[in-house]
Amino acid sequence: MRSSCVLLTALVALAAYYIYIPLPEAMGDPWKLMLLDATFRGAQQVSNLIHYLGLSHHLLALNFIIISFGKKSAWSSAQVKVTDTEFDGVEVRVFEGSSKPNEPLKRSIVYLHGGGWALASPKISYYDELCTAMAEELNAVVVSIEYRLVPKVYFPEQIHDVARATKHFLQPEVLQKYSVDPDRIGISGDSAGGNLAAALGQQFSQDLNLRSKFKLQALIYPVLQALDFNTPSYQQNWNTPILPRHVMVKYWVDYFKGNYNFVQAMIVNNHTSLDVEGAVALRARLNWTFLLPPSITKNYKPVVHTAGNAKIVQELPQLLDARSAPLIADQEALQHLPKTYILTCEYDVLRDDGIMYAKRLENAGVQVTLDHFEDGFHGCMIFTRWPTNFSVGIRTRNSYIKWLDDNL
Ligand SMILES: *[C@@H]1O[C@H](CO)[C@@H](O)[C@H](O)[C@H]1NC(C)=O
Ligand SMILES: *[C@@H]1O[C@H](CO)[C@@H](O)[C@H](O)[C@H]1NC(C)=O
Ligand SMILES: *[C@@H]1O[C@H](CO)[C@@H](O)[C@H](O)[C@H]1NC(C)=O
Repeated sequence: MRSSCVLLTALVALAAYYIYIPLPEAMGDPWKLMLLDATFRGAQQVSNLIHYLGLSHHLLALNFIIISFGKKSAWSSAQVKVTDTEFDGVEVRVFEGSSKPNEPLKRSIVYLHGGGWALASPKISYYDELCTAMAEELNAVVVSIEYRLVPKVYFPEQIHDVARATKHFLQPEVLQKYSVDPDRIGISGDSAGGNLAAALGQQFSQDLNLRSKFKLQALIYPVLQALDFNTPSYQQNWNTPILPRHVMVKYWVDYFKGNYNFVQAMIVNNHTSLDVEGAVALRARLNWTFLLPPSITKNYKPVVHTAGNAKIVQELPQLLDARSAPLIADQEALQHLPKTYILTCEYDVLRDDGIMYAKRLENAGVQVTLDHFEDGFHGCMIFTRWPTNFSVGIRTRNSYIKWLDDNL
């Protein structure tokens, strides 16, 4: 009896140690966030073990676990019709707001889900519910693209998939089939999906035939650059759930089919030190001492070394490619972008990626709304349903949908 008490106490202590992380006071629902983070960390560790044992790639294992938490088959209600189909060979899930006879054409959003270019799907309940809410509240057609993931494909295949499906959708006869107004289409995505949306936005805006196809872009805590992992937000949130810095750096390395041996060096910006050819000029485009307001920069120093590791960029030249890092695109690539919404969260390594992009777009003459949440954390917008419901999840979603309603 006594030994089982001791064992139980030890287990509880161990669980508490595993779950507990000190969080800033401003973050709401701290225990719920710790549990969410511990669950996700646990799933990552199980996946790493599976990988280590040679049973499966860790990202396949992790995605399997995530999808097991809730994949929804296509379904329909009185308000929204949901169908799974293919656009030019790319799987998509289409959400259509209800149609009445003689109704005007609908607005539309092409949506790209997050998950580090390696995880999740339009079919998991989190994204299915988000797109359903968008289709219903905006009475719109939402096309959520099932682009292929790492490790099945790597950069730039994800971009090719979303471009192919989007171009198919934009054909007049397809828009007509879905009763979509060709002048009221937006592109949007969260996290790695925000990265793909930004890349697609730039690709389209540089093509005279496609330039005016999007009325707007809406980027939710987007990933926008891999040159500086020491922006003030990366420094402030290096260990903040649910996306600590080392996890984000690993997603980048996986996206490029790289080697984790580089992760530690990249965390200290050794891949973009002053002796790395090509990196210096591009780092000037994300010079945050100039692009971020003093209220953010005042307590932080840039991390720039004179000597680092030139081998990293040689082996992973994709790091310097604006299609992977839309923040480093040149000014001409930015000036024809449509009206833009960027949502950022205070407790997110990616906060400053978003704020810097907003500033660069503004400087290029693009109309930008920056919607910052002081108590937000990375990923919060998909967490609106019990048991993973967060007040800031509901507020970010409402604010995003309201902006779309006002601007699309
Ligand atoms: C960064 O580069 C410097 C200079 O080459 C080297 O001394 C240091 O060990 C590197 N740091 C990491 C974490 O790789
Ligand atoms: C960044 O901007 C500051 C202020 O404008 C400037 O002094 C500094 O030289 C710039 N650094 C780089 C790497 O461009
Ligand atoms: C989450 O949902 C539960 C059950 O509906 C509710 O009692 C709770 O107040 C919600 N929490 C937040 C933060 O919205």
